[in-house]
Amino acid sequence: EKMVFVKPYVGAIDQGTSSTRFMLFDSNGQTVLSHQILLPQHHPNPGWVEHDGKEIIKFTNECIENVMQEYYRLGLGEKSDIKAIGITNQRETTIAWNKNNGQPYHHAVVWCDTRTSSLVSRFTEKAAKLAKYKDLSDEERDNQSKNHLRQLCGLPINNYFSALKMRWLIENVKELNHLSQPKDQKEEEDVIMGTIDSWLVWNLTGGGVHITDVTNASRTMLMNLKTLQWDKDICEFLEVPMNILPKIKSSSEIYGYIKEGPLEGIPIGSVLGDQQSAMVGQMCFKKGQAKNTYGTGCFLLYNTGNEIVQSTHGLLTTVCYQLGKDAEPCYALEGSVAVAGAGVKWLVDNLGIASSADEVEELAGKVENNAGVYIVPAFSGLFAPYWRDDARGVIVGMTHQTNRCHIARAMLESTCFQTHEVLSSMEKDANTKLTELRVDGGMTKNELLMQMQSNILGLPVVKPYNSETTCFGAAFAAGLTVGVWKQSMEFKVSQTFTPFTTPESNAIRIKEWHKAVSKSINWVEK
Ligand code: G3P
Repeated sequence: EKMVFVKPYVGAIDQGTSSTRFMLFDSNGQTVLSHQILLPQHHPNPGWVEHDGKEIIKFTNECIENVMQEYYRLGLGEKSDIKAIGITNQRETTIAWNKNNGQPYHHAVVWCDTRTSSLVSRFTEKAAKLAKYKDLSDEERDNQSKNHLRQLCGLPINNYFSALKMRWLIENVKELNHLSQPKDQKEEEDVIMGTIDSWLVWNLTGGGVHITDVTNASRTMLMNLKTLQWDKDICEFLEVPMNILPKIKSSSEIYGYIKEGPLEGIPIGSVLGDQQSAMVGQMCFKKGQAKNTYGTGCFLLYNTGNEIVQSTHGLLTTVCYQLGKDAEPCYALEGSVAVAGAGVKWLVDNLGIASSADEVEELAGKVENNAGVYIVPAFSGLFAPYWRDDARGVIVGMTHQTNRCHIARAMLESTCFQTHEVLSSMEKDANTKLTELRVDGGMTKNELLMQMQSNILGLPVVKPYNSETTCFGAAFAAGLTVGVWKQSMEFKVSQTFTPFTTPESNAIRIKEWHKAVSKSINWVEK
């Protein structure tokens, strides 16, 4: 059956941890064309994860060129039928470059990189020394100092966020060392820094536009959630100069125009961090709606409307979106899980117990249950709700009977248990019960995983008809900017998984999971 596409079109770049893509959508939100290139990760030291900024730009351009060649070959329209493009990106990953020649000073430091552990300790100790924490017990002081900036930026002091990556670059890259000393800083800095959205906008517009959007900025640890501006006190505390940072804009407005190539002259009409973009793509515009994206990691976001909800259960408070310069910002609670799909990949690449992710599903389906085996894939520590960078991966409960099928099943279950923990924290923080969980991302094609997820949560798990939610979210926000769409579109369901295990049997398994987690924590001595 020949697809009929409706003009005009909107494009979107999705620059993720493991790949770069460009997609074109029609006015009904249907995918017209898509091209994806895998992005190599560099691991110069254990726990370090880097991307080559130049490679990111090269691949982005190649994806655009490939889609546009197909576009003309198939006679789908003119360039003028494409009204805008949006950008969505892996968040937190940080890059520094020279604003005169556009050259990066170092590879980008990726979100899941753990090189900043000693900076985490240094800044939490700096907080602990403050007079206001003086009279607390050691344990309470630890807890308070880790969360010292939370009221302002919604985040704990952790490896994950950009500010410490910036600080690492300043301290470790020779050309950036001068930024360490406020007195040596020039008024007009040549060095600028940003997250990958900023790097893409700078390059696509031909240099000169240095911006980020509120969702990406809310992952740096440097933005004040109320004012939506860089916070002077935080920047001072974390020793990051403000004059190297991009200007913060809304998620849906025109930041500039593409300078060259097949999309020359087309406006960039949106920027959203990829998890927030998936919220938009899933049409989670109402307070109380939530989605989980299963990618390298797993990211559950819960819309809290215009309210900034401070978590007391280990979640992050973040900006969900601000759709228009003058629009009210919408906030979210987020539970980030560092390892989901990456765990399956690890079984294939590092253990070699299966040749593909599909085979992992097949193996896991050959056994009825995990036979008591639990895996906590804390390869780079544990994110929500624990935030322990001293945790490492463990496999527990093995016997003579354990085989690779149990290991495969336990790895898939680890994603479900981690999602469950995040969701329970969300329900406690927001004081409501969720009625369904919308899901997307590569791992959702694993039906066994989705069924296990529904069982463990005791909730319907809903897959949308449009599976490209991350990319579509950015396209949608760009389409709003140029008037192709209004603020909502029909949400069509493609598949729903309903739970069939009992709460009692779940409770036992969840207890065992917690026991496994306790074994993974404190592994690295500090
Ligand atoms: O916070 C990190 C997240 O934005 C990365 O997402 O899909 O590139 O693994 P992804």
